[in-house]
Amino acid sequence: MNNLRLILISLLVPSLLMIPYSVLSFYTDFANKNPDPSQVTASFSGKSYNAVEGKKAFEQYQCMGCHTIVGNGGYFAPDLTLVNKRIGGNEAALANFILAGAPAKGMPPMRDRGMNGEDAYRVVAFLKYTEKIDTNGWPNNGSWDRDGKLDSASPERLLPGNMWQAVLGIVFFNLLVFAIIIAYERGKEAKA
Ligand code: HEC
Repeated sequence: MNNLRLILISLLVPSLLMIPYSVLSFYTDFANKNPDPSQVTASFSGKSYNAVEGKKAFEQYQCMGCHTIVGNGGYFAPDLTLVNKRIGGNEAALANFILAGAPAKGMPPMRDRGMNGEDAYRVVAFLKYTEKIDTNGWPNNGSWDRDGKLDSASPERLLPGNMWQAVLGIVFFNLLVFAIIIAYERGKEAKA
């Protein structure tokens, strides 16, 4: 009877351990990691503008006619999801670029389309927000090249951190099997 208890305990302990593990994995997989857009702001002349207003300005000036956000929109110009990161998170540089454009390269000066500083910083707030949204890893390295070539898939690499998890898992599993066998053998001895 004692040995049966030992076996049950050696099975129960890892199963109980799985409960917090699985709760944790659900939490990290499904938790909403996106920030509240009304809390993502850019400041201009002492006033702050948020990403909700920014989205409206982004639509008003039809940026989507040429650009994409997470791949949605026009394919004439680069995707803007991570542009704030590309530009080094410099709000003034981004706002000024949007206002001045790059006419020689096809980016119209938004100042000519009636955009003022306020609207430019609203758009900046929106682009700060898009940089922070959870895109599930999109884009992968080189997944949106302008040359039209297919991506070369980057191979999965076994990181040392993952390897130790595997090793510890195997050791743990073996100890479990040993515990069951020993308990079984002892049980036989006890009966004999
Ligand atoms: C008529 C098409 C068109 C519209 C409309 C347009 N853009 Fe552009 N934009 C471009 C092109 C083309 C480029 C790429 C210029 C280059 O190659 O350097 C660009 C570049 C940019 C860049 C720099 C991207 C980078 O990765 O360096 C930003 C930021 C940007 N646009 C923001 C906006 C915003 C914000 C709006 C709306 C307010 C907008 N654009 C509207 C055509 C457009």
